[in-house]
Amino acid sequence: MQKPVIGRCRILLPVSLFIALVACDSRNADRDVGLDLDAGAWSRHGRTADEQRHSPLSEINQSNVGELGLAWTFETGQFRGHEATPLVKDGVMYVTASWSVVHALDAVTGEALWVFDPEVPKELARYACCGVVNRGVAISNNAVFVGSLHGWLFKLDATTGEIIWKVDTTARELHYTITGAPRIVKDKVIIGNGGAEYGVRGYVSAYAIDSGELAWRFWTVPGDPSLPFEHPEMEVAAKTWTGEWWHVGGGGTAWDSMAYDPELNLLYVGTGNGSPWSRTLRSPGGGDNLYLCSILALNPDSGRLVWHYQTTPGDNWDYTSTQHIMLADLEIAGSLRKVAMQAPKNGFFYVLDRATGALLSAEKFAKVTWASHVDMATGRPVELPASDYDDQPKIIQPSPNGAHNWPPMSYHPGTGLVYIPAHDTAGVYGLVEDFKFQPGTWNTGMSRSPKALALREKAPPRYPYLLAWDPVAQKERWRVDTNGGGILSTAGDLVFQGNINGELVAYAADTGERLWVATTNVGIIAPPISYSLGEEQFVTVVSGSKFQPPDRDHLVNHGRVYTFKLGATLPMPDVGEKGDPNTPIPENFGTPEQIAEGNELYHGHCARCHGFEAVSDGVIRDLRYSTPGVHAAWNGIVLEGAFAELGMAGFGDILTPEDARALRSYVVEQANARRPR
Ligand code: HEC
Repeated sequence: MQKPVIGRCRILLPVSLFIALVACDSRNADRDVGLDLDAGAWSRHGRTADEQRHSPLSEINQSNVGELGLAWTFETGQFRGHEATPLVKDGVMYVTASWSVVHALDAVTGEALWVFDPEVPKELARYACCGVVNRGVAISNNAVFVGSLHGWLFKLDATTGEIIWKVDTTARELHYTITGAPRIVKDKVIIGNGGAEYGVRGYVSAYAIDSGELAWRFWTVPGDPSLPFEHPEMEVAAKTWTGEWWHVGGGGTAWDSMAYDPELNLLYVGTGNGSPWSRTLRSPGGGDNLYLCSILALNPDSGRLVWHYQTTPGDNWDYTSTQHIMLADLEIAGSLRKVAMQAPKNGFFYVLDRATGALLSAEKFAKVTWASHVDMATGRPVELPASDYDDQPKIIQPSPNGAHNWPPMSYHPGTGLVYIPAHDTAGVYGLVEDFKFQPGTWNTGMSRSPKALALREKAPPRYPYLLAWDPVAQKERWRVDTNGGGILSTAGDLVFQGNINGELVAYAADTGERLWVATTNVGIIAPPISYSLGEEQFVTVVSGSKFQPPDRDHLVNHGRVYTFKLGATLPMPDVGEKGDPNTPIPENFGTPEQIAEGNELYHGHCARCHGFEAVSDGVIRDLRYSTPGVHAAWNGIVLEGAFAELGMAGFGDILTPEDARALRSYVVEQANARRPR
C-alpha cells in the first residue's frame, strides 16, 4: 500500500517527472489520499487508510519495553463503555468517550484542550444494543468529525472544538445509532450506523467535507419493493429476498469497519447481520439476502457498488461482516497480490483480491460448527445440517458474539502475521414460536423456551485468546490465552493488547512471549495506538470496559486514557468502586412461575446491559447489589424511567407492573443464589 511521498504528492514508480507532476496537482494538496507516511502520527482510524494498525515506530522495542512506564492519564468522567481509537495529529490527541463525547488533549502531557458533548438524549441508551460507546473521530485538515449515538455527524474546528456544521444522518425515523468512527475519503466523510435488531435498514452515507451536503447514500438491503429502488443495486438485492422483510428493516447495518485503497479508488465497507436473526422468519422463501454480512467495494466518488463478497449468504446466526477489514499486499503463490482480509464473526479468515473481490482463500481460525468449509469454486460456505435450528434449539459455534467481534486486528508487515483478538464461542439458537416484531426493543426471533434455556448449561464456555495468524498459509503461528481487546503491532516487534482483567500487555510479535504489563485495574477492550513527538514514542490506550476480577463482585468501568513512554514513572491512579458486599439481600419472593417469567423477561430486555443471569460483567451496575431503596423504587426505575439521566430508560411502554414484579423476583433469586457473601 505504501509508496514514497513527498509532501502530499504521490510519486508513482518508476519515477517520471510528468507523472509526479500529475499526481501533485494543486487540488491534491487538500485532498486526503490516505497514504499517511508520517510515522509519528496516528491520524486515521486504522493509522493508515489500509487500516493495518501497525506503527512503523521502533524506539520502544523488545529489548527495552520493560522500561515502559505511565507518562500521563486523563479521566473521561464516564462510567460506561469506552471503545475508542484515539487519533493524534500535530501534537493533539482526539479521543471519544461514552455518549459520543470528544476530548482534545495535549498528546505529550494529557492536558485537556477542549471537550465537545453532542448531548445525546439519555433515553436513547435503550436503543444502543451494545452500550453507549463510540469508536473514535476522523480528522481532515483542521477539522474533526464525530458520529453521535443519536445519528448526527458533526464537523468540529480542531483548534476549538466548535461546531462548523452538523447533519442529522438518520433523521431519527427509526432506532438508528452511530457508534463507529467516520472515515475520510478525499473530499468526503463517510459514516454508517447500527440498530439492526431494532428494525432498521442499513445504509452508509458520504457527506461533502466542506458543506456537509449528502453526496451519496448506499442502502445495504432493499426496502419495500413496491416503492422505487433508491439505486440499481437494490433491484439486484431485492431478488435475493422473500416474504415481507421490510417491515422489520432487514438489518445489514454498516456499523464499524471500512478501509480505503487510493490507487484502486475503492472504499471497502463491512455490513451486518440480518434482522431478525432467523432467515426463516426474515425471508421465509429463502435467498441470500444481499447485502447482509458482506464486504462491499464502493466507488467513493459515486457510491456505486464495484463488487461484493458475502461471507454468510442467507445469514441465520447474527454473523456480521462488520469486523475489521484490512488491506495489505501479500506474496501468494509467487506473486504479489493486493488483498483485503477479514476475520468476521462466522469464524473463517478470508483473503480476497481487493481489486476484483475474488476469493483467494478462507479457512477456519476458531471453533466453527455451522459450516464445514468454504467451497473455493463457488466462494460459498458449505453449511452443516447441525446449523439448522428451525425444528429444535441447538448449540452452534460461533455464538452471536462471533469468533471475532469489533475489536480490531493488526497486520505486521515484518512478521507477516495478523493478530486477532479471537474467541471460541457457542450459542444456543432456537426459533421463537410466534415471532412478532416489537418496535423499540431487541428483535432477534430467538427462542427462550425452557428447552433452549436448558441447552445453555451444555454449551462450552467462551474461550478467548490472542491469535497470531499467517494469512498466506492460513495457519495459526501462536496463541496466548487472554480475554483481550483490540490490537496494535509495532516495528519494535511488539504486539500490544489490553484485557478485561485491567492489564495492558506487550507481547513479542514473533513468539507471543509476554514481555511487559501495566495493571490499570479497569477493563480494556479498546485498541492501543502509538505515536511519536520529538524523539519520544508513546503508547496510548483507553480503558472502560467489561472488567472481571476473579471474585466478580466489583463494579469498575472507569473511562480513562493511559499514555506510556520509556522511563516514565507516574504511579497508576487508584480507580474503582466496589459493589458493597454488605448490601442486604431481600428475601426471595414470587412463585416459581413468576421467577421463570422474570428470567425470560430479564434475558429479553435487561441482560444485554446488566449481564447474563443478573451477574454484571462490569459495564453496568450489578443488580444483585441494589440497595433496599432501589428495590423500593423498582417500578419507578424500571417502568417510569426515574434513572433515565443515568442511561436507564423506563420500559413502561412494553412492560407491565406484573412484569416488573416478575423481573424483581428473578433478580432477587439470583442475588440469593449467586452473590458471594
Ligand atoms: C441499555 C442498557 C440498559 C438496559 C437494557 C437496562 N438497564 Fe437498568 N440500568 C442501566 C444503567 C446505565 C443504569 C444506571 C447505572 C448506574 O447507576 O451507574 C441502570 C440502573 C438500573 C437499576 C438501578 C440499580 C441500582 O442499584 O442503582 C435497576 C433496578 C435496573 N437498572 C433494572 C433494569 C431492568 C429490570 C432492566 C430490564 C427491564 C434494565 N434495567 C435494562 C442500563 C440498562
